Amino acid sequence: MDADHAPTDVVDPRGPGADPAQREKVVAEQALAVAAAWSPPGAPESWWLTAATLTAVARDDVLRGLAASIPPDRVPALLVAAALARRAAQRPDSAFARYFPRPGGPQPADDGGFPAAAATFAREERDALAQLCAGHRYQMNEVARCLDVLPVLGAIAARDGRPLALVDLGTGAGLALHLDRYSYRYRLAGGAELTCGDPGASVQLDCAVHGVVPDVPQQVPPILARVGVDVESHDLADPDTFGWLAACIPPEAGAVTRFAAAAAIARSDGARAVRGDLIDVLEDAVAGMPEEATVCLLDTYVHVFLPPAQLARFDALLERMSRVRPIEWISVDPLVPLGPDADSTVQGLAVPDGWVEHNRAGGVFGVIGHVSLRDGRRTGRIVGRAHPSAAWLEWLPAR
Ligand SMILES: C[S@@+](CC[C@H](N)C(=O)[O-])C[C@H]1O[C@@H](n2cnc3c(N)ncnc32)[C@H](O)[C@@H]1O
Repeated sequence: MDADHAPTDVVDPRGPGADPAQREKVVAEQALAVAAAWSPPGAPESWWLTAATLTAVARDDVLRGLAASIPPDRVPALLVAAALARRAAQRPDSAFARYFPRPGGPQPADDGGFPAAAATFAREERDALAQLCAGHRYQMNEVARCLDVLPVLGAIAARDGRPLALVDLGTGAGLALHLDRYSYRYRLAGGAELTCGDPGASVQLDCAVHGVVPDVPQQVPPILARVGVDVESHDLADPDTFGWLAACIPPEAGAVTRFAAAAAIARSDGARAVRGDLIDVLEDAVAGMPEEATVCLLDTYVHVFLPPAQLARFDALLERMSRVRPIEWISVDPLVPLGPDADSTVQGLAVPDGWVEHNRAGGVFGVIGHVSLRDGRRTGRIVGRAHPSAAWLEWLPAR
């Protein structure tokens, strides 16, 4: 099913069950927590609108009420934020729309008028926003997460001296499948930088590095085969689907620009996509991979959404598959269970000191983990963590 034609949960304005005031309180907290994760104090100026949109969802009566009427498993705060961006794109001449960046353009400045413009727009567009929320799922694609996985892929290729076969689980629009067509820049403390890939690429990925300097490869490792797996299809050629996926991108100029550029590559050079639940289709997807390549499973912001029983099934499946051929699993996922009580990684790896507390304080980040499986045995470690849209990357020392 594509993004624009997902089955609809009818939005019940009274809210599905729980006390409406309590539901509003919960969605407001969630909206502010996501705002804090994407745009913490000291974040680049360009993230102001992402924080302001989610803050509007938390504080504006109409938007908060709409979010509270959406079932919690449909990520209400982010769904309403995406509906606002989509409606703004459909009404480009509105006062509200002028706050949103366009691909390749600058970040419109914060003139202090956004909360009032959002309140007016919410009241004018109340029905259209409710319809957008009822007809869509929140589906975020963040191509910048390739920055998080590139050093791990480089290390695997250097270790094995072989090309890689990528299996991108929960691939969404399939943007990570083309990671060898992007340009990478890691900005180090003190002004130095590490680069990789084609400097003239249309997709320019860039992050600030904290902590240890990652081992960035000089070139993206050769990718011999690639396949994306997703339970839903995301047809970028369909203008409505593309419009919705674009609206799910945080309204930050860099994010909006790189999504448009990466989507253009994915549209023109569609990699193989397998539709289905990752647990059901993984074995077949890997079986089709060339023997002379190292199989690398990528999972960025996917396993965080799997219930514990499904994570356990995935672990058992990998253990079994690794008796046939070695498997590498690179995960970039927040701590689980998602939210302030999170204390574990989806890969069952030991969490470094202070990270649980940082997450509890609202600083959600992606934990970058690398697990290798051979003959049913697994080894692994956390290699770093990153901003949800890879604005920063913190690398850990190798043991
Ligand atoms: C938050 S998006 C992340 C997309 C992409 N990996 C990224 O980081 O930009 C999660 C994706 O996982 C897919 N997904 C969730 N559960 C899945 C499952 N059990 N099997 C396959 N795909 C799944 C969703 O359809 C969605 O496209």
